[in-house]
Amino acid sequence: MREECFVTGGTGYIGQHLLAQLTAKGHPVSVLMRKPEGLPALQQLVNQHGGDGSLLSAVAGDLAKPELGLSAEALLQVQRAKVVFHLGAHFAWGLSLEQARAVTVNGAVRVAQLAAKHGSRLLMLSGFMLENHAHLRRVGVDLEQPQRTDWPAVYRRVGGYEGSKLEAHFKVLECMRALGGELTIVHPATVCGHSQTGHILPAQPLAELISNLASGKLSAIPGTAQHWLPLVTVDFLVALMIAAALDPSQVGQQILALDEHTPNLPGMLGVLAERLKLKPPRRFMPIGVLRWLLKIPGLPKLLSTSPESLDFIQTTRFDTSATKALALKYQLRWPDITQAMQTTVTYLAR
Ligand SMILES: NC(=O)c1ccc[n+]([C@@H]2O[C@H](COP(=O)([O-])OP(=O)(O)OC[C@H]3O[C@@H](n4cnc5c(N)ncnc54)[C@H](OP(=O)(O)O)[C@@H]3O)[C@@H](O)[C@H]2O)c1
Repeated sequence: MREECFVTGGTGYIGQHLLAQLTAKGHPVSVLMRKPEGLPALQQLVNQHGGDGSLLSAVAGDLAKPELGLSAEALLQVQRAKVVFHLGAHFAWGLSLEQARAVTVNGAVRVAQLAAKHGSRLLMLSGFMLENHAHLRRVGVDLEQPQRTDWPAVYRRVGGYEGSKLEAHFKVLECMRALGGELTIVHPATVCGHSQTGHILPAQPLAELISNLASGKLSAIPGTAQHWLPLVTVDFLVALMIAAALDPSQVGQQILALDEHTPNLPGMLGVLAERLKLKPPRRFMPIGVLRWLLKIPGLPKLLSTSPESLDFIQTTRFDTSATKALALKYQLRWPDITQAMQTTVTYLAR
Protein backbone atom coordinates (compact mmCIF):
# COMPACT_ATOMS: atom_id res chain seq x y z
CA MET A 1 0.00 0.00 0.00
CA ARG A 2 1.29 3.47 -0.91
CA GLU A 3 0.92 5.87 2.02
CA GLU A 4 1.45 9.62 2.04
CA CYS A 5 4.25 10.41 4.46
CA PHE A 6 5.62 13.53 6.14
CA VAL A 7 9.29 13.46 7.16
CA THR A 8 11.27 15.85 9.38
CA GLY A 9 15.07 15.65 9.21
CA GLY A 10 14.83 14.34 5.63
CA THR A 11 17.90 16.33 4.55
CA GLY A 12 20.05 14.67 7.24
CA TYR A 13 22.04 11.47 6.96
CA ILE A 14 19.43 8.94 8.09
CA GLY A 15 16.72 11.09 6.50
CA GLN A 16 18.23 10.87 3.00
CA HIS A 17 18.25 7.10 3.19
CA LEU A 18 14.73 7.02 4.62
CA LEU A 19 13.50 9.14 1.69
CA ALA A 20 15.30 6.82 -0.74
CA GLN A 21 13.69 3.66 0.66
CA LEU A 22 10.22 5.22 1.05
CA THR A 23 10.15 6.57 -2.52
CA ALA A 24 11.66 3.36 -3.93
CA LYS A 25 8.53 1.66 -2.49
CA GLY A 26 6.34 4.30 -4.19
CA HIS A 27 5.32 6.33 -1.12
CA PRO A 28 4.86 10.08 -1.85
CA VAL A 29 6.72 12.11 0.79
CA SER A 30 6.47 15.73 1.98
CA VAL A 31 9.73 16.84 3.58
CA LEU A 32 9.97 19.61 6.19
CA MET A 33 12.77 21.86 4.94
CA ARG A 34 14.26 25.02 6.41
CA LYS A 35 15.54 25.79 2.90
CA PRO A 36 12.93 24.40 0.49
CA GLU A 37 14.94 25.74 -2.45
CA GLY A 38 17.26 22.78 -1.75
CA LEU A 39 14.61 20.31 -3.00
CA PRO A 40 16.22 19.62 -6.43
CA ALA A 41 19.57 18.80 -4.77
CA LEU A 42 17.79 16.52 -2.29
CA GLN A 43 15.90 14.79 -5.12
CA GLN A 44 19.21 14.14 -6.85
CA LEU A 45 20.73 12.66 -3.68
CA VAL A 46 17.69 10.46 -3.17
CA ASN A 47 17.97 9.20 -6.76
CA GLN A 48 21.66 8.41 -6.14
CA HIS A 49 20.66 6.40 -3.06
CA GLY A 50 18.29 4.30 -5.19
CA GLY A 51 15.03 6.21 -4.52
CA ASP A 52 12.65 8.18 -6.72
CA GLY A 53 13.19 11.90 -6.08
CA SER A 54 10.15 12.81 -8.18
CA LEU A 55 7.92 11.57 -5.33
CA LEU A 56 9.30 14.22 -2.96
CA SER A 57 7.82 17.63 -2.26
CA ALA A 58 9.16 20.29 0.08
CA VAL A 59 7.23 21.87 2.93
CA ALA A 60 8.83 25.08 4.19
CA GLY A 61 9.13 25.06 7.98
CA ASP A 62 11.33 24.99 11.04
CA LEU A 63 11.10 22.77 14.12
CA ALA A 64 12.11 25.72 16.31
CA LYS A 65 9.16 27.87 15.24
CA PRO A 66 5.62 27.87 16.67
CA GLU A 67 3.33 25.57 14.60
CA LEU A 68 6.59 24.46 12.86
CA GLY A 69 6.43 27.71 10.87
CA LEU A 70 3.97 26.08 8.45
CA SER A 71 1.82 28.21 6.13
CA ALA A 72 -1.92 27.37 5.86
CA GLU A 73 -1.23 25.69 2.52
CA ALA A 74 1.67 23.66 3.92
CA LEU A 75 -0.52 22.58 6.84
CA LEU A 76 -3.11 21.19 4.41
CA GLN A 77 -0.38 19.18 2.67
CA VAL A 78 0.98 17.82 5.96
CA GLN A 79 -2.51 16.88 7.22
CA ARG A 80 -2.84 14.35 4.41
CA ALA A 81 0.07 12.29 5.73
CA LYS A 82 -0.90 8.86 7.05
CA VAL A 83 2.54 8.46 8.60
CA VAL A 84 4.85 11.07 10.10
CA PHE A 85 8.54 10.18 10.53
CA HIS A 86 10.22 12.53 13.00
CA LEU A 87 14.02 12.55 12.64
CA GLY A 88 14.85 16.26 12.89
CA ALA A 89 17.14 17.23 15.77
CA HIS A 90 19.94 19.68 16.47
CA PHE A 91 22.97 17.38 16.52
CA ALA A 92 26.23 18.97 17.67
CA TRP A 93 28.48 18.68 20.72
CA GLY A 94 28.68 21.59 23.16
CA LEU A 95 25.11 22.89 22.70
CA SER A 96 23.52 24.92 25.48
CA LEU A 97 20.25 23.68 27.03
CA GLU A 98 18.38 26.51 25.27
CA GLN A 99 19.82 25.75 21.82
CA ALA A 100 19.19 22.01 22.06
CA ARG A 101 15.76 22.27 23.63
CA ALA A 102 14.44 24.83 21.10
CA VAL A 103 14.72 22.34 18.21
CA THR A 104 14.97 18.85 19.62
CA VAL A 105 12.45 19.01 22.47
CA ASN A 106 10.02 21.74 21.43
CA GLY A 107 10.15 20.62 17.78
CA ALA A 108 9.42 16.99 18.72
CA VAL A 109 6.43 18.01 20.84
CA ARG A 110 5.10 20.19 17.99
CA VAL A 111 5.40 17.30 15.54
CA ALA A 112 3.67 14.96 18.01
CA GLN A 113 0.80 17.42 18.54
CA LEU A 114 0.38 17.79 14.78
CA ALA A 115 0.38 14.02 14.19
CA ALA A 116 -2.11 13.39 17.00
CA LYS A 117 -4.42 16.22 15.86
CA HIS A 118 -4.61 14.93 12.30
CA GLY A 119 -4.71 11.22 13.17
CA SER A 120 -1.34 10.46 11.56
CA ARG A 121 0.75 7.61 12.86
CA LEU A 122 4.02 8.96 14.35
CA LEU A 123 7.35 7.16 14.13
CA MET A 124 10.01 8.95 16.14
CA LEU A 125 13.75 8.30 16.28
CA SER A 126 15.13 8.49 19.81
CA GLY A 127 18.43 6.77 20.68
CA PHE A 128 19.73 3.50 22.15
CA MET A 129 20.76 5.10 25.46
CA LEU A 130 17.02 5.27 26.26
CA GLU A 131 17.11 1.48 26.60
CA ASN A 132 20.00 1.67 29.08
CA HIS A 133 17.94 2.20 32.22
CA ALA A 134 20.86 1.99 34.66
CA HIS A 135 22.56 4.81 32.73
CA LEU A 136 19.36 6.90 32.70
CA ARG A 137 19.03 6.56 36.48
CA ARG A 138 22.72 7.40 36.93
CA VAL A 139 22.37 10.64 35.00
CA GLY A 140 19.28 11.66 36.97
CA VAL A 141 16.25 10.64 34.87
CA ASP A 142 13.27 9.66 37.04
CA LEU A 143 12.01 6.61 35.13
CA GLU A 144 8.95 6.11 37.33
CA GLN A 145 7.80 9.74 37.08
CA PRO A 146 9.74 11.37 34.21
CA GLN A 147 7.93 14.68 34.68
CA ARG A 148 9.72 14.97 38.05
CA THR A 149 13.16 14.80 36.39
CA ASP A 150 15.43 17.79 37.02
CA TRP A 151 16.20 18.28 33.30
CA PRO A 152 18.74 21.12 33.67
CA ALA A 153 20.76 18.79 35.95
CA VAL A 154 20.55 15.99 33.33
CA TYR A 155 21.73 18.40 30.60
CA ARG A 156 24.67 19.44 32.80
CA ARG A 157 25.62 15.77 33.21
CA VAL A 158 25.24 14.50 29.61
CA GLY A 159 25.47 17.68 27.51
CA GLY A 160 22.94 19.59 25.43
CA TYR A 161 22.43 17.13 22.57
CA GLU A 162 21.89 13.96 24.62
CA GLY A 163 19.95 15.85 27.33
CA SER A 164 17.53 17.13 24.68
CA LYS A 165 17.16 13.67 23.11
CA LEU A 166 16.27 12.17 26.51
CA GLU A 167 13.87 14.98 27.38
CA ALA A 168 12.23 14.91 23.92
CA HIS A 169 11.57 11.18 24.27
CA PHE A 170 9.70 11.53 27.56
CA LYS A 171 7.87 14.71 26.51
CA VAL A 172 6.60 13.05 23.30
CA LEU A 173 5.46 9.94 25.21
CA GLU A 174 3.56 12.17 27.64
CA CYS A 175 2.04 14.25 24.82
CA MET A 176 0.88 11.24 22.77
CA ARG A 177 -0.55 9.59 25.88
CA ALA A 178 -2.52 12.76 26.69
CA LEU A 179 -3.75 13.25 23.10
CA GLY A 180 -4.35 9.57 22.33
CA GLY A 181 -2.07 9.57 19.29
CA GLU A 182 -0.46 6.50 17.68
CA LEU A 183 3.27 6.38 18.39
CA THR A 184 6.12 3.99 17.60
CA ILE A 185 9.66 4.76 18.73
CA VAL A 186 12.85 3.41 17.17
CA HIS A 187 16.06 3.66 19.20
CA PRO A 188 19.08 3.56 16.86
CA ALA A 189 22.57 2.61 17.97
CA THR A 190 25.38 4.71 16.48
CA VAL A 191 24.80 4.63 12.75
CA CYS A 192 27.29 2.87 10.46
CA GLY A 193 27.59 3.55 6.71
CA HIS A 194 25.35 1.90 4.12
CA SER A 195 26.13 -1.83 4.01
CA GLN A 196 26.47 -1.87 0.19
CA THR A 197 27.93 1.55 -0.67
CA GLY A 198 29.51 2.59 2.64
CA HIS A 199 27.86 6.01 2.23
CA ILE A 200 28.18 8.11 5.39
CA LEU A 201 28.42 11.86 6.05
CA PRO A 202 31.60 13.26 7.67
CA ALA A 203 29.75 14.75 10.67
CA GLN A 204 28.41 11.34 11.72
CA PRO A 205 29.92 10.10 15.01
CA LEU A 206 31.35 6.92 13.41
CA ALA A 207 32.93 8.94 10.57
CA GLU A 208 34.53 11.22 13.20
CA LEU A 209 35.91 8.17 15.04
CA ILE A 210 37.38 6.80 11.79
CA SER A 211 38.87 10.19 10.97
CA ASN A 212 40.49 10.37 14.45
CA LEU A 213 41.94 6.89 14.00
CA ALA A 214 43.26 7.78 10.53
CA SER A 215 44.93 10.96 11.78
CA GLY A 216 46.59 9.26 14.76
CA LYS A 217 44.51 11.16 17.36
CA LEU A 218 43.14 7.93 18.83
CA SER A 219 46.24 6.43 20.39
CA ALA A 220 44.48 4.55 23.23
CA ILE A 221 41.27 2.52 23.48
CA PRO A 222 38.66 4.28 25.65
CA GLY A 223 37.45 2.01 28.48
CA THR A 224 38.24 -1.70 28.80
CA ALA A 225 38.10 -4.82 26.62
CA GLN A 226 34.39 -5.10 27.54
CA HIS A 227 33.39 -1.62 26.33
CA TRP A 228 31.59 -1.26 23.02
CA LEU A 229 29.93 1.28 20.76
CA PRO A 230 26.95 -0.61 19.31
CA LEU A 231 26.26 0.05 15.63
CA VAL A 232 23.47 -0.37 13.10
CA THR A 233 23.83 0.18 9.34
CA VAL A 234 21.81 3.06 7.92
CA ASP A 235 20.03 0.84 5.36
CA PHE A 236 18.94 -1.76 7.93
CA LEU A 237 17.82 0.98 10.35
CA VAL A 238 15.67 2.65 7.71
CA ALA A 239 14.13 -0.65 6.55
CA LEU A 240 13.24 -1.40 10.18
CA MET A 241 11.71 2.08 10.64
CA ILE A 242 9.47 1.68 7.58
CA ALA A 243 8.38 -1.81 8.61
CA ALA A 244 7.54 -0.58 12.13
CA ALA A 245 5.74 2.56 10.92
CA LEU A 246 3.40 0.65 8.60
CA ASP A 247 2.65 -2.28 10.90
CA PRO A 248 -0.45 -1.66 13.10
CA SER A 249 0.86 -4.15 15.68
CA GLN A 250 3.83 -1.84 16.35
CA VAL A 251 1.71 1.05 17.70
CA GLY A 252 2.85 1.74 21.25
CA GLN A 253 6.08 -0.24 20.77
CA GLN A 254 9.71 0.82 21.19
CA ILE A 255 12.24 -0.89 18.96
CA LEU A 256 15.98 -1.08 19.52
CA ALA A 257 17.88 -0.83 16.22
CA LEU A 258 21.20 -2.28 17.28
CA ASP A 259 23.41 -5.02 15.85
CA GLU A 260 24.47 -7.26 18.73
CA HIS A 261 27.33 -8.59 16.57
CA THR A 262 29.11 -5.23 16.73
CA PRO A 263 32.59 -6.11 18.07
CA ASN A 264 33.78 -4.63 21.37
CA LEU A 265 35.82 -1.44 20.98
CA PRO A 266 39.26 -3.14 20.68
CA GLY A 267 37.87 -5.41 17.93
CA MET A 268 36.07 -2.53 16.20
CA LEU A 269 39.19 -0.34 16.18
CA GLY A 270 41.17 -3.36 14.93
CA VAL A 271 38.81 -3.81 11.94
CA LEU A 272 38.81 -0.08 11.12
CA ALA A 273 42.61 0.27 11.51
CA GLU A 274 43.29 -2.77 9.33
CA ARG A 275 41.21 -1.27 6.51
CA LEU A 276 43.12 2.00 6.99
CA LYS A 277 46.38 0.01 6.82
CA LEU A 278 47.33 1.27 10.29
CA LYS A 279 48.30 -0.39 13.56
CA PRO A 280 45.31 -0.31 15.97
CA PRO A 281 45.76 1.22 19.44
CA ARG A 282 46.55 -1.44 22.06
CA ARG A 283 46.65 0.49 25.37
CA PHE A 284 43.45 1.13 27.30
CA MET A 285 42.54 4.50 28.82
CA PRO A 286 39.86 4.43 31.59
CA ILE A 287 36.80 6.47 30.57
CA GLY A 288 37.00 8.48 33.84
CA VAL A 289 40.61 9.52 33.09
CA LEU A 290 39.70 10.44 29.52
CA ARG A 291 36.72 12.48 30.69
CA TRP A 292 38.98 14.28 33.17
CA LEU A 293 41.65 14.94 30.50
CA LEU A 294 39.01 16.36 28.16
CA LYS A 295 38.26 19.04 30.77
CA ILE A 296 41.66 20.56 29.94
CA PRO A 297 40.95 23.61 27.77
CA GLY A 298 41.86 23.02 24.14
CA LEU A 299 42.22 19.22 24.48
CA PRO A 300 38.76 18.28 23.10
CA LYS A 301 39.57 20.35 19.99
CA LEU A 302 43.09 18.95 19.72
CA LEU A 303 41.87 15.37 20.01
CA SER A 304 38.65 16.08 18.04
CA THR A 305 36.77 14.35 20.86
CA SER A 306 33.99 15.73 23.00
CA PRO A 307 33.46 14.42 26.55
CA GLU A 308 29.76 14.10 25.57
CA SER A 309 30.62 11.37 23.06
CA LEU A 310 32.12 9.18 25.82
CA ASP A 311 28.69 8.41 27.32
CA PHE A 312 27.88 6.21 24.33
CA ILE A 313 30.79 3.87 25.11
CA GLN A 314 29.57 1.47 27.79
CA THR A 315 29.63 -2.22 28.73
CA THR A 316 25.83 -2.68 28.85
CA ARG A 317 24.31 -5.40 26.61
CA PHE A 318 20.77 -5.10 25.30
CA ASP A 319 17.82 -7.39 24.62
CA THR A 320 17.14 -7.26 20.87
CA SER A 321 14.68 -10.16 20.65
CA ALA A 322 11.74 -7.87 19.65
CA THR A 323 13.88 -6.32 16.89
CA LYS A 324 14.86 -9.74 15.60
CA ALA A 325 11.20 -10.81 15.53
CA LEU A 326 10.23 -7.69 13.55
CA ALA A 327 13.13 -8.19 11.12
CA LEU A 328 12.09 -11.82 10.63
CA LYS A 329 8.44 -10.88 10.05
CA TYR A 330 9.46 -8.55 7.19
CA GLN A 331 12.37 -10.73 6.00
CA LEU A 332 14.86 -7.94 6.62
CA ARG A 333 18.39 -9.29 6.35
CA TRP A 334 20.85 -8.06 8.97
CA PRO A 335 23.93 -6.90 7.03
CA ASP A 336 27.30 -8.24 8.20
CA ILE A 337 28.33 -5.39 10.53
CA THR A 338 32.09 -6.05 10.24
CA GLN A 339 31.89 -5.87 6.45
CA ALA A 340 29.76 -2.71 6.72
CA MET A 341 32.44 -1.07 8.90
CA GLN A 342 35.07 -1.95 6.28
CA THR A 343 32.88 -0.61 3.44
CA THR A 344 32.36 2.60 5.42
CA VAL A 345 36.14 3.11 5.79
CA THR A 346 36.61 2.47 2.06
CA TYR A 347 33.88 5.03 1.27
CA LEU A 348 35.53 7.67 3.50
CA ALA A 349 38.99 6.99 2.06
CA ARG A 350 37.80 7.23 -1.57
N1 LIG B 1 23.37 9.29 13.50
C1 LIG B 1 23.36 8.57 14.60
O1 LIG B 1 24.35 7.86 14.94
C2 LIG B 1 22.13 8.56 15.48
C3 LIG B 1 22.04 7.64 16.54
C4 LIG B 1 20.91 7.65 17.34
C5 LIG B 1 19.86 8.53 17.07
N2 LIG B 1 19.98 9.40 16.05
C6 LIG B 1 18.84 10.33 15.79
O2 LIG B 1 18.40 10.16 14.46
C7 LIG B 1 17.90 11.40 13.95
C8 LIG B 1 18.56 11.73 12.63
O3 LIG B 1 19.97 11.73 12.82
P1 LIG B 1 21.00 12.11 11.65
O4 LIG B 1 22.29 11.52 12.05
O5 LIG B 1 20.40 11.80 10.35
O6 LIG B 1 21.07 13.70 11.86
P2 LIG B 1 21.66 14.84 10.93
O7 LIG B 1 22.36 14.28 9.74
O8 LIG B 1 22.39 15.77 11.83
O9 LIG B 1 20.33 15.57 10.40
C9 LIG B 1 19.58 16.40 11.24
C10 LIG B 1 18.34 16.80 10.48
O10 LIG B 1 17.56 17.65 11.35
C11 LIG B 1 17.22 18.80 10.62
N3 LIG B 1 17.07 19.98 11.48
C12 LIG B 1 17.95 20.49 12.37
N4 LIG B 1 17.44 21.61 12.92
C13 LIG B 1 16.22 21.80 12.35
C14 LIG B 1 15.21 22.79 12.49
N5 LIG B 1 15.35 23.82 13.35
N6 LIG B 1 14.08 22.67 11.76
C15 LIG B 1 13.93 21.64 10.88
N7 LIG B 1 14.85 20.68 10.70
C16 LIG B 1 15.98 20.77 11.43
C17 LIG B 1 18.38 19.03 9.65
O11 LIG B 1 17.94 19.88 8.61
P3 LIG B 1 18.89 20.97 7.88
O12 LIG B 1 19.33 20.29 6.59
O13 LIG B 1 18.01 22.13 7.66
O14 LIG B 1 20.05 21.25 8.81
C18 LIG B 1 18.63 17.60 9.21
O15 LIG B 1 17.69 17.23 8.23
C19 LIG B 1 18.15 12.44 15.04
O16 LIG B 1 16.97 12.58 15.78
C20 LIG B 1 19.23 11.80 15.88
O17 LIG B 1 19.21 12.26 17.20
C21 LIG B 1 21.08 9.45 15.23
